[in-house]
Amino acid sequence: MGERVRSVKGMRDLLPPETAVWAAVEETARRVFGTYGYGEIRTPLVEPTELFVRGVGEATDIVGKEMYTFEDRKGRALTLRPESTAPVARAFVQHGLGDRGLPVKLYYCGPQFRYERPQRGRYRQFSQIGAELIGDPGPASDVEVILMLVRFLQALDFEGVTVLLNTVGDDTSRAAYRAALVDFLAPHAGALGDDSRRRLGTNPLRILDTKVPAEREILLHAPALDGYLTADSRAHFDAVQEGLSAAGVDFAVEPRLVRGLDYYSRTVFEIVVEGLGAQDAVVGGGRYDGLIGELGGPEMPAIGFAIGEDRLLEALPESFRASHQPGAPVHLAAAGSVEPGALLGLAESMRAAGLAVVAELGGRSVKAALKRADKAGARWVVLVGDDEQAAGEVTLRDLEAGEQQRLARSAAIAAIKESS
Ligand code: HAM
Repeated sequence: MGERVRSVKGMRDLLPPETAVWAAVEETARRVFGTYGYGEIRTPLVEPTELFVRGVGEATDIVGKEMYTFEDRKGRALTLRPESTAPVARAFVQHGLGDRGLPVKLYYCGPQFRYERPQRGRYRQFSQIGAELIGDPGPASDVEVILMLVRFLQALDFEGVTVLLNTVGDDTSRAAYRAALVDFLAPHAGALGDDSRRRLGTNPLRILDTKVPAEREILLHAPALDGYLTADSRAHFDAVQEGLSAAGVDFAVEPRLVRGLDYYSRTVFEIVVEGLGAQDAVVGGGRYDGLIGELGGPEMPAIGFAIGEDRLLEALPESFRASHQPGAPVHLAAAGSVEPGALLGLAESMRAAGLAVVAELGGRSVKAALKRADKAGARWVVLVGDDEQAAGEVTLRDLEAGEQQRLARSAAIAAIKESS
């Protein structure tokens, strides 16, 4: 016997019946996002490495240590996408998607790859459901995007969703704040860990969301970005908050929220839901007004978010899960000298009537068939023995009630359909 091959570390198989819940979640996203005028985009899993280096940023964890990067046979540097905002921005530029009018509203759903340490809720292949609104700079668009996200979570039966909100300001605000933060932290450099010391030179704002207690202590006295916002950035942030309040969205301003990707400007947000570790955001998003210009496109404001679907499923309310798990199929078995092949015609007419049917074609005993049906959680078993076959009837057994009756085929189909 050969040795077993196992899936790659951090990459999972999703199996039925759980996959039906995934499909229902995605279906709900399509429906809700559709009501806001979003269309689906599907970008390749593989992109030129340069897209993420320029788009997500050289100093980020993603580009620095988490990408699956390789050379193809012609020596081109390629990367399995670690996120989809940069690919969507690339596609927007490549196809001139803005030419037919702005804003352009796109959503996506699919796998992403990051070489992170696997643990619950963190995988090396994971799935995101995301949306991007490209071409409108106004705060009302920020509000609408966040509102759509909240509506989606509500459609999945999540209750008490709170959006954590912050602004990272525009370029001018950020440059002034970065300088002030570095001035403040430089004398403490010796007390910072390796990661934060490195970030002091590359990406000082990221130090703000450190989880290291000693560093958090130091940061208590750090200047706040709030004091460095330009009037314009402040007005935008105020308008977003007013809009969210007016729309009835629960949010909390979280001054330390800076997000781990370089392309953000102004509004940033995350959603953390109960049931997952406090540091595990289910959703991350924000405005990225400079990204499309950075990728060779026109100056083009944009905002979006991505939901970690794996984490979403782990925290999914039981009520949604229960109402979207498919019922077990009807089991169909031959008895006496009836050949299993004789079940095929009946099974087809039951399916044509809209029933899910598993026909026992392996010629097992009725007892084995009943056991299998019971194990599958089925309520109905349809038995066809010699007598039934001669009379064009079936025996319909109700495993829940522990009863059975002889019925004409059409009557059996009607009885099963009535029960579901
Ligand atoms: P992100 O915060 O890097 O943002 O990822 C968004 C979400 O993806 C996270 O909140 C988390 O739920 C999920 N996620 C990230 N890494 C993993 C992992 N290793 N395993 C499981 N889930 C994970 C972005 O990706 C941005 N593109 C979001 C965005 C869209 N910003 C603007 N538009």
